[in-house]
Amino acid sequence: MSALTESAAWRALIALAEADRGITTAARFAQDPERARRYAAEACGLYLDYSKQRLGDEVLTALLALADQQQLPAWISRMFAGEVINATEQRAVGHVALRGAAPVMDGEPVTALVDGELDRMVAFAEAVRSGDWRGATGEKITDVVNIGIGGSDFGPRMIWEALSQNAVLPRAHYLSNVDGAQLSLILCRLDPARTLFVVTSKTFTTQETMVNAHAARRWLTAALGEAAVARHFAGVSTSRPTTEAFGIDPALVFGFWDWVGGRYSLWSAVGLSALIALGPARFRELLAGARAMDLHFRDAPMHRNLPVLMALIALWNTNFLGAASQVVVPYAQRLHRFVGWLQQLEMESNGKGVDRDGQPVDYPTTPVIWGDVGSNAQHAFFQLLHQGPALNPVDFILPLEAIHGYPDQQQLLIANCLAQSAALMRGKNADQVRAELAAQGLGGDALEAAIPHRVFTGNRPSSTLLLPRLDAFHLGALCALYEHRTFALSVLWNINAFDQWGVELGKQLARDVIAAQANPAAAGTLDPSTLQLLERARAH
Ligand code: F6P
Repeated sequence: MSALTESAAWRALIALAEADRGITTAARFAQDPERARRYAAEACGLYLDYSKQRLGDEVLTALLALADQQQLPAWISRMFAGEVINATEQRAVGHVALRGAAPVMDGEPVTALVDGELDRMVAFAEAVRSGDWRGATGEKITDVVNIGIGGSDFGPRMIWEALSQNAVLPRAHYLSNVDGAQLSLILCRLDPARTLFVVTSKTFTTQETMVNAHAARRWLTAALGEAAVARHFAGVSTSRPTTEAFGIDPALVFGFWDWVGGRYSLWSAVGLSALIALGPARFRELLAGARAMDLHFRDAPMHRNLPVLMALIALWNTNFLGAASQVVVPYAQRLHRFVGWLQQLEMESNGKGVDRDGQPVDYPTTPVIWGDVGSNAQHAFFQLLHQGPALNPVDFILPLEAIHGYPDQQQLLIANCLAQSAALMRGKNADQVRAELAAQGLGGDALEAAIPHRVFTGNRPSSTLLLPRLDAFHLGALCALYEHRTFALSVLWNINAFDQWGVELGKQLARDVIAAQANPAAAGTLDPSTLQLLERARAH
């Protein structure tokens, strides 16, 4: 047993989970007319209703005791103080510094560094947008292609998709996959003379990014010549020398720092492509929204603190109710990239099997995070949420105001979202089904046989997050909310959220397979299955 699962706070939660087993959320509502009001919290314009979660006051108190036991307030302070809390990489954790909420990282003042780099990005973005910066042939830039993967892709792509509803030119495009299909699809629509590439890679060594960057470079120079590279390529990296070796003009290299993790980096120069395409004002609003959530996370008491509450609920569902996954369903088409961003954020951070001391954990850490936008998702996987045997708690995210010209459709969207969470909680029992079917004229054996298929057990937990509208400020706050939820969970689980050693082995073995592709004599290190698959690929 680990110290965590043996601890008093953990044991108290196990006992409560046992005692609470028979109590439904519907019954809790019946007992407490104030439940909807009491089980809600608000910050930065975001309103969290967690009254449909399967917990009561005793569980909440016990979860808060666990937060206390795990020293969550102290860990939050340590992050904002810029301490080296990413121990396995000996780094501070500074995405909050990018939003102006932490002035010092690992003992060094960073505000001037962060502001200086942001000012450079803004100046370049304004030059591109105004046409002061032009391509090698004197054409205005109409298309910006970010070349990056993982944290160097998901964040800027997600905010571009979420906020570009009124954007005109330049357009942003995102090239990440080593599958050349994506490269060819993007390039075939573009004019080299009007295209700016932003090669975004913290390390500037990531294979997919480098392969795509070199292909894009060849495409550009074939049309415009070698000298055009300086006008059509910018770089974003913590490794300046490597960008220069690629041929990027040092004036167009934008830096960030090793205390910014890849999946927490959209606020840094990694956001450059979105900043250019959306405009500096919107990017600054995004930062302001995230900063507002930072200050809330840092200062609000634990029981009113949105990221903390969401983390405690996730832990309760995962570790005590046995939830199989965490579903996230934004009722906002423009958030269709949000879940992808969140998957990397949470699963690369908390998909860990050992604790901070390197001891194997004896409790589940992050569940699988998945989802898609509503209302589409209702016609895809909601069947499983309503009637599947496993428990899959849902976060519904709902911006209330539409920024489009179809207000009736917005009302329908809202109605669908609210109906789904109500249905998950309430369910429908056999008596209700029997009465409905009888009213439709069904009877006898046919009626009885139909009942089990139409029963909904209900009591399926969800939270609903309301945003006033999907603008840059509230998107910033929403992203920071999930970032801090992820960190808070890592503290509760006693794991390090800020390294990602688990992705390294695949990268290493890819090098072995590439070597074997080039030279069959080098295939000796491969296992028989991989070798056989490679042989078939070769023969094909
Ligand atoms: O997938 C592993 C990873 O290291 C991520 O953490 C990171 O976001 C991604 O690769 C891209 O890395 P880079 O920005 O160095 O190209």
